[in-house]
Formats: sequence, structure tokens, C-alpha cells
Amino acid sequence: MQTITITGGQPLHGTIRPAAAKNSVLPLLAATLLCGAPCCLRGVPELSDVDTSLALLQAVGAKAARHGSDLCTLPVHASALCGEIPAHLAGAMRSSVFYLAPLLCRAGMVRLPLPGGCRLGPRPVDIHLAGLAAMGARVELGGDAVTLRRFGPLQGVDFTLRLPSVGATMTLLMAACCAMGTTVLRGAACEPEVCDLAGFLSACGAQIAGAGTPVVVVQGRRALGGILYTPLPDRIAAATYGAAVAAAGGQITVRECPPRYYEAFLQFLQQCGVQVTRRENAVELVRDPSVPLRGSQQLYANAWPAFATDTAPLAAAVLLEAQGESQIYDHLFANRFACAAGFRAMGAECQAAGHRLTIRGGAHLQGACVTAPDLRGGAALLVAALAADGTTELRDPGHIRRGYADLPGDLALLGARCACCRPTAVR
Ligand code: EPZ
Repeated sequence: MQTITITGGQPLHGTIRPAAAKNSVLPLLAATLLCGAPCCLRGVPELSDVDTSLALLQAVGAKAARHGSDLCTLPVHASALCGEIPAHLAGAMRSSVFYLAPLLCRAGMVRLPLPGGCRLGPRPVDIHLAGLAAMGARVELGGDAVTLRRFGPLQGVDFTLRLPSVGATMTLLMAACCAMGTTVLRGAACEPEVCDLAGFLSACGAQIAGAGTPVVVVQGRRALGGILYTPLPDRIAAATYGAAVAAAGGQITVRECPPRYYEAFLQFLQQCGVQVTRRENAVELVRDPSVPLRGSQQLYANAWPAFATDTAPLAAAVLLEAQGESQIYDHLFANRFACAAGFRAMGAECQAAGHRLTIRGGAHLQGACVTAPDLRGGAALLVAALAADGTTELRDPGHIRRGYADLPGDLALLGARCACCRPTAVR
């Protein structure tokens, strides 16, 4: 298990640039299976979920490799593709679900064992399956896997998502590109990463209208080519750096990530008393550590453009020492605040009850030994440790590296006293 040590009380200074967004890169990699020519994604960080995706692509017969910070894939003939996703790869990340549609379309069948990922509460895939079934797929649920088959091409449909799931919208976008005729998706997710996938597919030759709105219309069966594509910057990483400077104090610039991608989080930081200057493609953040942060906030995390669920634990970390009681309600996930136990170990007064986290505020955080419960919860504990007196030992069973190539290293570059002890190999 990796251990990160953080000694708090050191203000942050400097400039940082978020890498390409994990939540864009992972579906884009799956979508390359639909392309009839080589693709290359630029500036892809070394995340463990990216490594898992590369292993998954290779396991199903595709050719994908890293060249520096670029990830390149080669087109693969349908007869060379296998729809059986190995259980250890499906179980390693939630994003294995993105392979349902491309493998169904190209290989004619796909068998997906239970997908893994952060334990944020129940994470069903019923909308993905209902949409694919409406397009003509036969869905078999059995044991710990779902199997989809098609007997002929998928058919375009008019389908309403029962809620705006990011993953299901991406699944159905990919399927619609292969389906006969027109597909209309209603109640679609509008997150920037959905637009990024639509942008990638369109640049490869797909015909998609309305991405980023609740109604997306796709004309299917266009032959998709290849492309050199730069995915979106990671807005959650940008928010993480913002939370870090709010907790530790100092002055940083987050560059090459437009403020509109994390506007709700920037407004939250401003309400706390952080000075935020928005540029076209960058944000400057200043916090005087001698002035207490303002708490007494009510945050409600929901689908875009609301406050992003992935930033809810980061906001919590900022509010622990702020003045006044705050509440955060995460509409999407029932176990978003598993990091509350770690916050309490550091001296915070906070209580998680289902979707809601209540924070008393005004804590005087102390370094402690804590464990990352999931990706964003782990990042939030790291942020809280930047504000704490003394040294925190953060044990991470691999969560943080699923979404940040080197978060301790990034923060150390900004002046944090942060170090990472990677596990030593067992002989
Ligand atoms: C994506 O997950 C992100 N992951 C998550 O980021 C993010 O928290 C989430 O979107 C919401 O923004 C990736 O993109 C890889 P959803 P996803 O389907 O697609 C329910 C991170 O830390 N639902 O929009 O799985 C579901 O249970 C990760 O980077 C169904 O009921 O999220 C949840 O309550 C964590 N049935 C809500 O919808 C379905 O078929 C939103 O989930 C699908 C979803």
C-alpha cells in the first residue's frame, strides 16, 4: 500500500496545469474501438485506470500503446475482436462499462463481469442496458456478469434516459453511431466530458447534434476514421488544486483549464473568502492563511451544471476549519462522504448520514494516520492534511492514482511538504 506523508501549514505558490481529464480519456479509449483508422490521444496522464484500459483493449484484441504522453490505437478488424472482458479488468474500474457498446457493435457480443470503481453506493447500469435493449440488443443477466448480443445491426431509437447518467449517455452515444438510422437521446447528461466524447466521435466522422444539451440526435452508420485528439483538461484536478490553496493558503495559478469547467467550485471558494481571478484559460487563486475561511454553507451536488459530485469531498475538506456549520448534500451517490472518518481522526467535527455531510466547522486539524476510502475522498484527506498541524500519514490502497498521476508530487511542486512512499516490491 502506498503511503503519502503530508506536513501541514505550508502555503502554496506557483503555477500548475491539470492533465487531460480521466473521465474523458477513459471513454475516448473505448470509443477508439469504433474507428477505422489510427487514433492518438494527446497528453494522457499515467493513471492506473488508463493502464487498466490499455490492458483491457489488448485483452479484447485491440492494439493500443503509450508513446510518451500520447496514447495511440490501431484499427482492428471485427473478426479479431473478442467480446469477453476479463473479470480482473472489469473489476478494477467502473469505466469497463464503456466497452459494452463498442464491443457489442463491433464483435456482435460482449460479456461484462461486475464493474469495479469507487464504492460510492449502489451504481446500477440499468440505463445503459435499457437503451441498448431498445436498440435491439438481447440482454442476459446471469451470475456476476451481463451479456449482450445482437442479431443484425442495432437500430436507431427515440430513447429517454430516466436520469441524466454520464456513463449511460456515453454508452448510448457510441451505440447510436453504429445503429441504423436516427437515434434521439432525451434526458441526456450535459457534462463537458459528454461533449468531449461527442467532439471526438464527430471529428472521426460521426454526425451528432445537441451534445451538451438534454436532447442529442445521432445519425448512425457513418464510417468513422481516425484522429489526433487532445482531450479536455481535468476540471476535477483543477478544483483539487483550488481546494489545496484554500486549505493551505498562498497564491497559485491553475492554467490551461477554462474557469467555466469548474465555475460552481470557484464560486464556492469565493464564498469561503478565497480571491478568485478568472482569465480566459486560467484562474488565479489567493488565500491569506491568517484570515479564517467563511463556512455556514449549504452545497447541493448534482448533475452538470450544478456543483460537481466529484468535488463535494474536496469542498468538505475546505470547510472543516471554516467558521460556521455547513451542510453538503450529494444527490447522486449515497456513500460520497466515506472520507468523514478520516476527517474526524484529524480532529474535525463532521457526520455523514447517507447523502448528507454535516460539518460543524471551526476545527483545529491535527495530523493523523488516515486511509483513503476512494479516489476523491483520498484527495480530500490530502487537502485537509495541508491545513493540519503536524504530519498526516495517508494510506492509499491505490485509489488516488486512479485519478491523479502524482497528486503529492504536484502539491510538492507548489511548495507543500508532501512525499510519497511507494510500496516496495515483495521478494
Ligand atoms: C461518472 O460516473 C464519473 N466517472 C464519476 O466520476 C462521476 O462522479 C459521475 O459520472 C457523475 O458526474 C467516469 O466518468 C468514469 P452516472 P458514472 O452514471 O457515469 C445512477 C470520479 O471520481 N445511475 O452519471 O458512473 C448512479 O447510481 C468518478 O472521477 C443509475 O441509476 O455516473 C448515480 O446515482 C466517480 N443507473 C447517478 O445515476 C445507471 O444505469 C449518476 O451516475 C447509471 C447511473
